[in-house]
Amino acid sequence: MRTLLSANGIGKTFGRQVVLDGLTFSIPEKARIGLIGRNGAGKTTLLRIMAGTEEADTGTARLMPNARLGVLDQHELLPTDGTVMGYLENATGRPEWECAKMAANFGLRADALRMVPATLSGGFQMRAKIVRMLLADPNLLLLDEPVNYLDLSTLLLFERFLRTYQGSYVVTSHDRELLMNLCTTTWEIARGALTTFPGDVETFSAWKEEQEEYVARTNKRLRRRWRRRRRSPTVSARKRASRPGQRASSSTSRSSGRNSATFRATCRSPRSASPARRSRPEPRSARTTSR
Ligand SMILES: Nc1ncnc2c1ncn2[C@@H]1O[C@H](COP(=O)(O)OP(=O)(O)OP(=O)(O)O)[C@@H](O)[C@H]1O
Ligand SMILES: [Mg+2]
Repeated sequence: MRTLLSANGIGKTFGRQVVLDGLTFSIPEKARIGLIGRNGAGKTTLLRIMAGTEEADTGTARLMPNARLGVLDQHELLPTDGTVMGYLENATGRPEWECAKMAANFGLRADALRMVPATLSGGFQMRAKIVRMLLADPNLLLLDEPVNYLDLSTLLLFERFLRTYQGSYVVTSHDRELLMNLCTTTWEIARGALTTFPGDVETFSAWKEEQEEYVARTNKRLRRRWRRRRRSPTVSARKRASRPGQRASSSTSRSSGRNSATFRATCRSPRSASPARRSRPEPRSARTTSR
């Protein structure tokens, strides 16, 4: 599978907030990626950097020569004169029959194509923009929260189109159902780092929950062990304590210091997962970066 976009060490900071912390990743052909993360995690920033409309502070996002980018510009103002067909032909250089065929996929028929673009309803204007984007024959779509600006019927048409789309896309959405319907790979941005997971968003959530439970259990176990050791110093600690000129407290504090260093468990590496766990897809690069 050829690569369409390759990013290396992408970093972005706003003021004192590190939004993206040295992300390295690539997007292959036929990738169906759902990009998730909390509000303000950096999804839009990452998409903008990929689209070239925002500059990264560090690193590069390189579009390969075989890639044709498609970005839906929700803020584009449509012409206040001419026809929708004229707009599509002028913007894409495609023949009328091709424009009409693509437009029909989105319910824009002859009467709509004869109208002045700016006089279309909001939903139909978005359809005209989608048709325009798709007529440029993109093979990598970057879609930021399409649910927010497409009316339901346009969204359903677009969703149906994407299910059979042969190119790649990255879509952000807080709508789990949309992501479940469209995406087979999940990317999550959290605290500046990117986790890439080769499965849908629900499988990813289940995997993440298991990881968190494992970390909590391990931390609890380590904490218990640490407390036990603190209560009864080890034999060697007692021996050291009994040597002349050496204080017991110093060796005990060294011992507890060593234990506290291993006190916090981090995510279990996918390789050490149990067989049951291993049957699930595992993240290819659990943390492309970490802070
Ligand atoms: N131009 C800017 N100037 C200052 N801060 C910014 C700018 N753009 C984004 N940010 C901040 O960077 C962080 C990431 O923003 P971004 O829009 O990428 O998040 P997001 O994951 O898309 O959020 P949402 O889910 O709300 O769409 C936020 O804290 C935001 O306030
Ligand atoms: Mg956003």
